[in-house]
Amino acid sequence: MNEPLRLGIAGLGTVGVGIVRIVQKHADLLEKRSGRPIVISAVSARSRTKNRDVDLSGYAWEDDPVQLAQRNDIDVFVEVMGGHEGPAKDATEAAIKSGKDVVTANKALLAIHGQDLAERAEDAGRLIRFEAAVAGGIPVVKALTEGLAGNEITRVMGVMNGSCNYILTRMEDAGLSYEAVFDEANQLGYLEADPELDVGGIDAGHKLALLSSIAFGTQVDFDAVELEGIGSITIEDIHQAADMGFKIKLLGVAQLTGRGLEQRMSPCLVPDTSPLGQLQGGTNMVVLEGDAVSQIVLRGPGAGEGPTASAVMGDVMDVARGLRFSTFGQPAKTLRKARAARAAVPAPYYLRLQLLDKPGALAKVAHALGEAGISIDRMRQYGHDDTAAPVLIVTHKTTRTALDEALVDFQSTGVVSGTPVAIRIEAV
Ligand code: NAP
Ligand code: HSE
Repeated sequence: MNEPLRLGIAGLGTVGVGIVRIVQKHADLLEKRSGRPIVISAVSARSRTKNRDVDLSGYAWEDDPVQLAQRNDIDVFVEVMGGHEGPAKDATEAAIKSGKDVVTANKALLAIHGQDLAERAEDAGRLIRFEAAVAGGIPVVKALTEGLAGNEITRVMGVMNGSCNYILTRMEDAGLSYEAVFDEANQLGYLEADPELDVGGIDAGHKLALLSSIAFGTQVDFDAVELEGIGSITIEDIHQAADMGFKIKLLGVAQLTGRGLEQRMSPCLVPDTSPLGQLQGGTNMVVLEGDAVSQIVLRGPGAGEGPTASAVMGDVMDVARGLRFSTFGQPAKTLRKARAARAAVPAPYYLRLQLLDKPGALAKVAHALGEAGISIDRMRQYGHDDTAAPVLIVTHKTTRTALDEALVDFQSTGVVSGTPVAIRIEAV
C-alpha cells in the first residue's frame, strides 16, 4: 500500500467538521483517486469537550494549533480557524518551518500576509493551497492557476460574498429594509463573527485581492482594493433599480491597465437579465476573461460546510497526487509589486439624493454635475413631501473622480440634505 497522506486539522467549526465528514465518508474514493489513503492524524480547536456531531475519537488532540502544526505524524497542516493574526498565522508559519504543506480556507490571512507566507513556503519547498478561501465551493483558483494558465488574463469580476448577496436579494424579495434583513441574516448565522467583514466588503475584497495576484502576476495588495460596503443601500434603491431593469450587487472588478492595477469591490447596478443580475441568495459568481479563452463564468455555493470542505479537499487531493504549484501560480519572488490605480473606466452612475424644496434646487444640482463635466441621462423627482423631494439621476458615462467632485459640490449648493447615494452602473 502507498504511504498515507496524513492531515492535521486546526479548527473544527463549520469547515473543519465538513472536512472530517468528507475524509470519513469518502475514504475509499479518495484513496482510489489519489492512489494513497488520506487520513487525519490530529485535530485542534479551542474546546475539547464541545459536541461537534462527528466522531473524533480516532484522532490525537492538540490544544495548541502551533503544536499541531509541528507534529511528526502529519504531512499537511489544514488551517480552518480563521483570523489574519494570532494562532492562524503562527501555526501556518510553524507548519512551513517544520516541513509541512499547508491547505487553508483563510482569505484574511493570505490577503494580508500572502506574499510573505508564499515566499517562506517556497523557500522551504512547501506548498500553500487556498481554493476554499475564494468563492467557497467554486474551483476558481484552480481555473485561474491551471485551466487558464495559457491566457493573459484581462479582467476578473464577480460576486464573492454570499451574505451580501443574500441580504440584497432578500431585501428585494421580501420588501424589507437593510436593517431588518441584516438582523435576520445575523440570527441565521450567515454573517461573520464581525459582520462588518461581510457588509463592509472586506471579506469580498480579500478574495478579489487573492484572485488579482494569480490573474496578473502581482503581489497581493489588499490595501489597494477600493472598498465600499452595502450598508447605505436602501430598499428604495433596490426598488428604483428594479424599475429601471437593474439589480444591485456587491461586485468586485480587477484589471491591469497601463495606469496600474485597478481593484474595486463596491455595490453596482447590473442588468437584471444578466447572469450576475439573476444571482440569488448566497450563491457566488466569478467571471474570468482571458485573451485566448474570451470569457468564462463560474457559479456555485460561496460558503457553507459542504461547499467549503469540498474546496479544501480538492487541494488536499492535489497534494496527495503530487501536484505542486507556486502559491499564486508563479514563484512568489517573481510576482511584481503593482502600482495601484483608481478605477478609471467611465460608467454611468445612479444617484439618489434628497433635495430641499426650494426654487432652483434642481438647477443647482444639474449645474454642479455640469461643472464636473457630467451629463445627465435621466432625472426623476418622486415622493415629494412638505420639505424635501427625493431625486433620482442617471448620468451618462463618467469617472468616479468626476463624480466625487460633483458630490463635494452638492454640499455647497445648500439644497442637498444628507449624503447622496451613488452607485456605478456596470456593463456585464
Ligand atoms: P468557525 O465555524 O468559527 O470555526 C472556527 C474553528 O476554529 C472552531 O472550531 C474554533 O474552535 C477554532 N479555533 C478558533 N481559534 C482557535 C485557537 N486559538 N486554537 C484552536 N482552535 C481555534 O469558522 P469556519 O466558518 O469554519 O471558518 C474557518 C475558516 O474558513 C475561516 O478562515 C473562514 O474565513 C474560512 N471560510 C469559511 C467559510 C464558511 O462558509 N464558513 C467559507 C469559506 C472560507 P472552537 O470550535 O472550539 O471554538
Ligand atoms: N462570509 C463569507 C460569505 C463566507 O458570506 O461569502 C465565505 O467566505
